[in-house]
Amino acid sequence: RKIIFSGIQPTGVPHLGNYLGALRQWVKLQNELHKRHVLLYSIVDLHAITVKQDPKELAQWRKEMFASLMAVGLDPKRSIIFAQSDVSYHSELMWILSCYASIGYLGRMTQWKSKLALPDNASPFDPSPSNKAALKLGLFSYPVLQAADILLYQTTHVPVGEDQAQHLEFARELAIGFNHAIATNNNSNFRLHPPETILSPAKRVMSLTNPTKKMSKSDENPKSRILITDTKEVIQNKLKSALTDSVEGVSYDPEGRPGVSNLIDLMYHIDESVAASPEELAKDLEGLSMRALKEKVADVVDEGIRDVREKYEEVMAMPGSELRALAKKGEQQAGSYAGKTLGEVKRAVGLSTEL
Ligand code: TYM
Repeated sequence: RKIIFSGIQPTGVPHLGNYLGALRQWVKLQNELHKRHVLLYSIVDLHAITVKQDPKELAQWRKEMFASLMAVGLDPKRSIIFAQSDVSYHSELMWILSCYASIGYLGRMTQWKSKLALPDNASPFDPSPSNKAALKLGLFSYPVLQAADILLYQTTHVPVGEDQAQHLEFARELAIGFNHAIATNNNSNFRLHPPETILSPAKRVMSLTNPTKKMSKSDENPKSRILITDTKEVIQNKLKSALTDSVEGVSYDPEGRPGVSNLIDLMYHIDESVAASPEELAKDLEGLSMRALKEKVADVVDEGIRDVREKYEEVMAMPGSELRALAKKGEQQAGSYAGKTLGEVKRAVGLSTEL
């Protein structure tokens, strides 16, 4: 039996990077696997507080993320949808795993460095003078919590975008290290399952305004990303100001023409029926001006997310009690799986009187 787990931070409505890189894949897996397998999708609010959040805004974002997950097509009857902080086993397993996690390995993780705008070779023990914000323990140990999320369900597969690959490698190594440690300590045959990564075809969607960087929720320019709730007019405007180049015509060359190639990729991945590959699509559109290309991409993106946008409005208009009931149901379902694994972990490390 496959166990699918993935998470998304509630830091605003998802953008096309989240959608194409992860959420659409989650829905696809749900629709293919729900009859025989288990799918868990979590709103990872504990991860969100590793950087400063406004409490009111965070609470609102949690709600918006629930609505977004329903809007893209996740179905509480087929997937377990829940907020991470509602299932306290995540924090508890994190603590236990922290006792097996290597600081040296965490120090090589690139995410905390990029969040603090530190160079890739920065060390946690060597605070850079160019960085005013202190490195917080939670941000540093973020990957341990992420590993706990995954390992708590004995997850077999984790669908994510490419930016999460390093964290998943960490989770696998941590599972292997933990298994090794408990194997030499006792004769229980409990093991944590090292999970596999599933990368979607659109594993790295780039920013519209800076197409050599990934599209990101934390970019201060809202025109750098298209949200899954953006109206046609907003989509058109954002694409109009997308950074391209002054080469004539359309061609696919991610290295030499990152802006144009990102637009081609967006169009291709939103609706894969338009061509056999991004290269083919670029050939079909060869003679278009930048302006005409952007208009075309805007049409396809609008078509591609129209249903999501409409469903989002519907879900947000639902009575609060209905959403709360859905969250409660997810919490209970996830909790029953998580409680079982945590019990076994505790027994394996000796935190149990029933040995
Ligand atoms: P988060 O919230 O940043 O992103 C959610 C998902 O969207 C993917 N993604 C992208 N894919 C392609 N192109 C992009 N530009 C792009 N931007 C984001 C991410 O890869 C991710 O799959 N640490 C995770 C959340 C997490 C998690 C987990 C994931 C916590 N626990 C356990 C999997 C399993 C994060 O911050 O994702």
